[in-house]
Amino acid sequence: MTQQSAETLTVRDNRTGKEYDVPITDGTIKAADLGQIKAGDDAPGLAVYDPGFVNTASCRSAVTYIDGDKGILEYRGYPIEQLAEKSNFLEVAYLLVHGALPTKAEYDAWVHEITFHTFVHENVKEFMQGFRYDAHPMGMLMASVGALSTFYPDARNISDSENRHMQIVRMIAKMPTLGAWSFRHAQGKPWVYPDNELSYTANFLSMLFKMSEQKFDADERLVKALDVLFILHADHEQNASTNAVRSVGSTQVDPYSAVAAGVGALFGPLHGGANEAVLRMLKRIGSKENIPDFIKGVKDGNERLMGFGHRVYKNYDPRAKIIKKSAEDVFEVTGTNPLLDIALELEKIALEDEYFVKRKLYPNVDFYSGLIYEAFQFPPEMFTVLFAIGRTPGWLAQWLELVQDKEQKIARPKQIYTGDRTLDFVPASERWA
Ligand code: ACO
Repeated sequence: MTQQSAETLTVRDNRTGKEYDVPITDGTIKAADLGQIKAGDDAPGLAVYDPGFVNTASCRSAVTYIDGDKGILEYRGYPIEQLAEKSNFLEVAYLLVHGALPTKAEYDAWVHEITFHTFVHENVKEFMQGFRYDAHPMGMLMASVGALSTFYPDARNISDSENRHMQIVRMIAKMPTLGAWSFRHAQGKPWVYPDNELSYTANFLSMLFKMSEQKFDADERLVKALDVLFILHADHEQNASTNAVRSVGSTQVDPYSAVAAGVGALFGPLHGGANEAVLRMLKRIGSKENIPDFIKGVKDGNERLMGFGHRVYKNYDPRAKIIKKSAEDVFEVTGTNPLLDIALELEKIALEDEYFVKRKLYPNVDFYSGLIYEAFQFPPEMFTVLFAIGRTPGWLAQWLELVQDKEQKIARPKQIYTGDRTLDFVPASERWA
């Protein structure tokens, strides 16, 4: 008997007294293996009940590794700290999508391809201009990325690898254009076309903020800080929006429709919206003197310290450390934000307080990111759009993995039915008589 085959779980069903051996592979059992466990010949097989998938692996993935207890995040094996410091967003996007770092020729070709697909069909622009004057930019982004499927009907051919590559390039290239236009729309400002002479992130800033100048010349420190933020958000394994992309993608729909589902998931306050809540909290606290009272309220269970705690990280979120450093660089350019002092003091107090220490509550990625976005003069509605642009290569890398994974099936969970059965239908004419 090999070591591998000794890895089994013995389950005894006390309803029948029968025992079953279920193989353990990679620390998991197959939920389908439990299907053989039945209370009687005609009874349904045993299933697992797991709302929110808190203990269910839905796929095998080689994209992102997280060790929440140790505070480790790696893309394709590379630590996030090294990528944030020494790489750039497009190289990281290449790494996520292709699984390995590019050669010089591969990198140049990739950057060229992305750069020359930043424009969108003029009808996309006209379609977006039809949104109400105060449309939320996330709603505009979700709709417009989904609408791209109608401009590229060939994207449905997901079994062709060249075709998949084309759509991936298009989407990474066009998300900043759609995001920037969603921003300008609510501001009533003219929309700025992409400038292919600029880097990915500098071009995004140009489309966001350019007015009458010939060329938008963003401060390099701001370009770098935003690029780092994109890197930090590029993937986070099976989070809610990635799960949405995979779930919709499992129907073999085109990738634009799948990514639109991811944008929708990210729109929700439990996923993409926490940094906005941090800002509101800091503004409400108002000054350092009020922090002890605020902390007392949190400990009494009246509210949460937003930007603290994480489902996976029970240690300092590695992204929060990097963002804290980026915040310093950004404030060097924009001037400091008085809310930063409150945030720093809040962090200091919380990290020494027994309540937070005992529950392993540390700053997460959202604790400082809102402050940086505010320094860029982004309104809170744009925070999640920035997240979506950063997350696009991750969604696409995961989608690519999904469509090539022979073990994957259409995502279709079971349910525990709790409703009525076999009622007799009485027609309305009799019920209402
Ligand atoms: N402030 C105060 N107490 C907290 C906080 C917090 N931010 N987070 C968790 N706790 C406490 C809970 O009250 C609970 O205490 P108890 O055991 O005495 O009841 C304990 O810590 C465990 O909390 P859970 O809610 O069970 O932890 P869970 O893993 O389900 O929640 C979550 C994680 C949702 C992120 C939570 O920590 C939270 O609400 N944080 C604030 C919101 C936030 O910053 N979200 C952004 C996450 S990062 C991202 O999505 C990109």
